[in-house]
Amino acid sequence: MPDHIEKLREMRARAVAGGGPERVAAQHDKGKLTARERLAALLDEGSFQELGALATHDCTAFGMADKRFPGDGVVTGFGTINGRKVAIYAQDFTVLGGSFSEVQSQKICRIMDLALDCGIPVIGLLDSGGARIQEGVKSLAAYGELFTRNVLASGVIPQISLMLGPCAGGSVYSPALTDFVIMVRRTSYMFITGPDVIKTVTGEEVTFGELGGAMAHNVKSGVAHFVAESEQQAFLLVKQLLSYLPPNNVEDPRRVEPDDDPQRMDEELNDIVPLDETAPYDMQEVIARVFDRGSFLEVQAHYARNAIVGLARLDGYVVGIVANQPLHLAGVLDIDSSDKIARFVRICDAFNIPVITFVDCPGYLPGVDQEHGGIIRHGAKVIYAYCEATVPKISVVTRKAIGGAYIAMSSKQMRSDLAFAWPTAEIAVMGPDGAVNILYRRELQEAEDPAALRAQFVAEYKARFHNPYAAADMGQIDEVIEPRETRPRLIAALDILRGKVATNPAKKHGLMPV
Ligand code: HXC
Repeated sequence: MPDHIEKLREMRARAVAGGGPERVAAQHDKGKLTARERLAALLDEGSFQELGALATHDCTAFGMADKRFPGDGVVTGFGTINGRKVAIYAQDFTVLGGSFSEVQSQKICRIMDLALDCGIPVIGLLDSGGARIQEGVKSLAAYGELFTRNVLASGVIPQISLMLGPCAGGSVYSPALTDFVIMVRRTSYMFITGPDVIKTVTGEEVTFGELGGAMAHNVKSGVAHFVAESEQQAFLLVKQLLSYLPPNNVEDPRRVEPDDDPQRMDEELNDIVPLDETAPYDMQEVIARVFDRGSFLEVQAHYARNAIVGLARLDGYVVGIVANQPLHLAGVLDIDSSDKIARFVRICDAFNIPVITFVDCPGYLPGVDQEHGGIIRHGAKVIYAYCEATVPKISVVTRKAIGGAYIAMSSKQMRSDLAFAWPTAEIAVMGPDGAVNILYRRELQEAEDPAALRAQFVAEYKARFHNPYAAADMGQIDEVIEPRETRPRLIAALDILRGKVATNPAKKHGLMPV
């Protein structure tokens, strides 16, 4: 073999070796795969085209001259996932803890620039202790370069982050700028500073898991969108998620040939809303019965469970679903569910995914905590996102659409294209008790039998507003449909709306309340 070929092979072999056998064994002992094992598991076999395998840092401080590894702790390149092209990077924790360096940044930014030029998604597999401390300000500047790419690519190409290790410092802000964050239970963490620093600064004692584990971010902070039980499951989630997304914002998501009948009616739906208007029912069941069987991929399933958001298929076409969940907090809109809904609607709008909204919501949540926490500002995001979105939008009021909830949750006045209601819909400015208290305060104070009079007023109010017909009469609801018809009606509606063209006034950007 010629020397130059031998030299290249030797250098490549060093790149593949990562941090060496001991560190690879330590990585495996933690239940984690190496960067290259991850790429092999996620990408179609033989599809990976590596770039920058031989790049190394030039830092000499703190003994770094002796710690040079080809690739510098990140593997970058292109490949395919179920035949779809992606740009991808995987940080290698076995090399200097996957710490983020100037060279790492150059490599990742390079594939991101190419991905943006070519209109293909970027997948990041993160496993890094944050900015490489030895490089000082260079590694901070390196993050700046990456964040800039994340932001410029935002809304143009899908960006998905898989958190596969203890990601700290800057390693959490890049994922936070991407569209979807997937964490793995027990092995992935996200925090800006770890438990030790927190103890020093605030005195609080907290474990890694409590502070930044998968459930902390899936349940409490809302930073993560999915939790996987293992790395393998996380890769399956990426594959599933990608199948719903277009490669970029000028293409539509791919349709798959459905194995569900577009005309399928579901008789059970006619009885799903309980006659007792205060009794809950499971909106998940409505979703499962309406959309193509088994096609619903819920996003942020553990966060703000009073709202449901996710991707599904309707006659094979990808749709985004937003729904109130009466099983949790009666489906009320609070700060967290407002953030969840607004973000999801914007993702759908960016990637040409029609939004179908199921409304059963008593309104925005009253309370001092909510008011002082900024429910006005957060709630406004829902309004902003729906008004701004130009994709096809259809709403189905299943039960309560009270006050702000009626107008905020994809109402026709906010550019929703079609509004359906079930006969169980209750569309009113406020609930009957509150309304009667305000409208008839004096009469009730002066009545001999206030309870009887109240009951009479409540009954009158309900007769007027606890149905969809007043709204249908005024054209605010396009059609009152039997619940069992929902699937074929939505499919037909989407068929019409597929050619929809809508634009927003030219501007640099809007000022969404954040
Ligand atoms: C350089 C690092 C490093 C870093 C880890 N290493 N983080 N080297 N810079 N940021 C090195 C370790 O020195 C060690 O090298 C190897 O990686 C493995 O780390 P361990 O600590 O042995 O692993 P583990 O016990 O699993 O703990 C992982 C960890 C811990 C929780 C991530 O390493 C840690 O706390 N690192 C620092 C996290 C942090 O505070 N980062 C913030 C950086 S500032 P050797 O050779 O000894 O095995 C930042 C600001 C950006 O990111 C702001 C942008 C907005």
